[in-house]
Amino acid sequence: MQYGHFDDARREYVITTPRTPLPWINYLGSEAFFTLLSNTAGGYSFYKDARLRRITRYRYNASPLDGEGFRVYIRDGETVWNPGWQPVQTELDRYVCRHGLGYSVIEGAKNGVTATQEFLVSHGDDCLLMRLTLRNDSAEEKRLDVFPYIEFCLWDAMDDSSNFQRNFSTGEVEVCGAAIYHKTEYRERRDHYAVFWCDRAPDGFDTAREAFLGAYGSPARPAAVFGDGCTGSLAHGWQPVAAQQHTLTLAPGASVRLLFGLGYIENPRAEKWERPGVVNKTKAEAMMARYATHAAFDAAMEALRAHWDSLLSAYQVRSGAEKLDRMVNIWNQYQCMVTFNMSRSASYFESGMGRGMGFRDSCQDLLGFVHMIPERARERILDIAATQFPDGSAYHQYQPLTKKGNLAVGSGFNDDPLWLIAGTDAYLRETGDWSILDERVDFDNDPSLARPLLEHLRRSFDYTRTHLGPHGLPLIGRADWNDCLNLNCFSSEPGESFQTTGPSEGPVAESVFIGGMFVKYGRAWVDILRHLGQTGEAGAAETDIAAMEKAVLTAGWDGAWFRRAYDAEGRVVGGAECDEGQIFIEPQGMCVMAGIGAETGEAATALQSVEARLDTRYGIVLLQPAYTRYRLELGEISSYPPGYKENAGIFCHNNPWIVCAEAELGHGDRAFAVYRRTAPAYIEDISDVHRTEPYVYSQMIAGRDAPSFGEAKNSWLTGTAAWTFLSISQAILGVKPELDGLRIDPCIPADCKGFEITRRWRGATYHITVDNAAGVERGVAAITVDGAPVPGSLIPPAAPGKCVEVTAVMG
Ligand code: BGC
Repeated sequence: MQYGHFDDARREYVITTPRTPLPWINYLGSEAFFTLLSNTAGGYSFYKDARLRRITRYRYNASPLDGEGFRVYIRDGETVWNPGWQPVQTELDRYVCRHGLGYSVIEGAKNGVTATQEFLVSHGDDCLLMRLTLRNDSAEEKRLDVFPYIEFCLWDAMDDSSNFQRNFSTGEVEVCGAAIYHKTEYRERRDHYAVFWCDRAPDGFDTAREAFLGAYGSPARPAAVFGDGCTGSLAHGWQPVAAQQHTLTLAPGASVRLLFGLGYIENPRAEKWERPGVVNKTKAEAMMARYATHAAFDAAMEALRAHWDSLLSAYQVRSGAEKLDRMVNIWNQYQCMVTFNMSRSASYFESGMGRGMGFRDSCQDLLGFVHMIPERARERILDIAATQFPDGSAYHQYQPLTKKGNLAVGSGFNDDPLWLIAGTDAYLRETGDWSILDERVDFDNDPSLARPLLEHLRRSFDYTRTHLGPHGLPLIGRADWNDCLNLNCFSSEPGESFQTTGPSEGPVAESVFIGGMFVKYGRAWVDILRHLGQTGEAGAAETDIAAMEKAVLTAGWDGAWFRRAYDAEGRVVGGAECDEGQIFIEPQGMCVMAGIGAETGEAATALQSVEARLDTRYGIVLLQPAYTRYRLELGEISSYPPGYKENAGIFCHNNPWIVCAEAELGHGDRAFAVYRRTAPAYIEDISDVHRTEPYVYSQMIAGRDAPSFGEAKNSWLTGTAAWTFLSISQAILGVKPELDGLRIDPCIPADCKGFEITRRWRGATYHITVDNAAGVERGVAAITVDGAPVPGSLIPPAAPGKCVEVTAVMG
């Protein structure tokens, strides 16, 4: 069952009922000001950091769902309704929500009135713009009362939702004409305020929630809307809101447009006040003036479209397969940009208060967006590297606002260092910008410890090299990629952290997965060293990598698949001898991607085991059999009921590892079969089972051991976005940036006859035509560049600005 459909020409997902199984959201903004917006106009805004600079309030885990947002109430005689149905939930005569790239449009109609809400965050500016168009389609004159309503957050979202003894007394506002200023704590240490405005002078306003909703009222039945209108309240303490009342008369056929905005303003300390107690509004007034006309709104929308045109044009495929094209050309890349902006901080599942940016998460996210915004990838790499410790280990998380590592979680996740090599390597292959390696970057955010980035990569490699366990495999520390496999932490008390309680690190527990990473990204390190002419160091690194490969193929090999780990007592995790958790997906994907066992057959055997034991119709589960009881020696993984999350859920992030691994072995049919099983556009018709947005990936789909098999959770912010883009754009469609050229090496289903790709790379544009009339899964027989044959499959970089015609004939 579907709740909407794709509109590829407009690059929108069109939702045709407000009653989606869960709120289906969009992200507006891609720089500093962000808004999460659901299909019923629920959501919230923040500036840079969803925890520390929350602009509007949102209550997670509430019932009914999605209570707060950017709502407009329309009172038409006895009927009160919202264009997005929520929160009053008056049945609409017509409803549609279009989520586009960086904007959303919600349209509802009731009793002959059509109301359209257009939302966007203006590119290059710190405000949400909301245009409301009302049209009288009836034969009678309409007298309407229109009430926009938002609830402010008192900035620090955590404090706002917990420290009521203080914050019920701090709220302050100012009202000036059609603008409502939220200035809580501005009198003391804050230099920022928010402003809500309208281009029309309102006929009434409220800024105290109690006055607008009523003490026992609710957003579903505001006292002002259902009663006598706004009261002109000025919030002192309690809950500041921005509500207005606009009384409008519309002749039959007439329409009216109102422009609303919500902006964030910072003032220099010395210029905070216009006069004692009155905020300096100069910047706010300038912002309102910038968007005072409909032409300005339209121009902001146009600028946004141009921005996305340019971003997406870095990789476009024409395959003839509609679903594939829409994933590759639009939605997968869009999600990559959102994960770049948000990491794992703010979604409808991540509260924006829990974690900051993840070290490994951000490094992996890079793999999916580096081709669109290499300059911001550069900046991101340097920020991440600055949170590395001098010994090569790293803070597991850092706050985006301060860019400082989070002490509470600390370090000890032993896969983290190697992801820095992965991200930097992807950047070098994309850009050829070797100067990044010379950039001096702090260790532990301490400028006195700054060293060139190259040294950071060296210490990443060395950290793993020097932290090996009894089998010569890397020590796992608190956890590796799987945050929930906690082999050194023995937590028995509820509420303790599974990762950081007790010793959490030990000399015995080892990770086969990190062993695979060390081989894969160690080779990338070697390539970098060789490119720099550092052959001695490269040779030594190769010796270490060969030793690791050997360790993986002996202690890490179980007979038919790669083992997962050794626990703190030296017992096998992920082997046939285990009663549960016999086989895990991660080492199969990573070790085969690393090329381990490719020649000796273990790689192919491992992937056959994945197919035989882990495949389901909704994707590949993380492990089998699921753990049925809590195991002190394994930690969080066994805390989940069978089939959920890391305990045998379909963890979407590592499905594309299997895609890449299958492609590595030349299995085009199987690679694509795995790809499409979790690709949102391919499973749109089971939206009732899947439940999350059908245009983006979710972190997890319940596995076959779960009662809700097939149900997804945690949509949007997941490393799945980057890895699936990598798997389809590079492993399957086969356009792979390398340090010295662009390799064309598709691995596709045998019945795919060919496709075309436009790829922007290092300033030149490559128009690539792949011809598979031969019907093979892999293998390039001939390549021409601008009509001239080239040997092999590597195309040297063209001069920036050039357009290059490439044909590749498979066979
Ligand atoms: C985390 C990742 C981790 C994954 C698997 C996600 O929630 O953000 O860092 O690799 O879970 O545990």
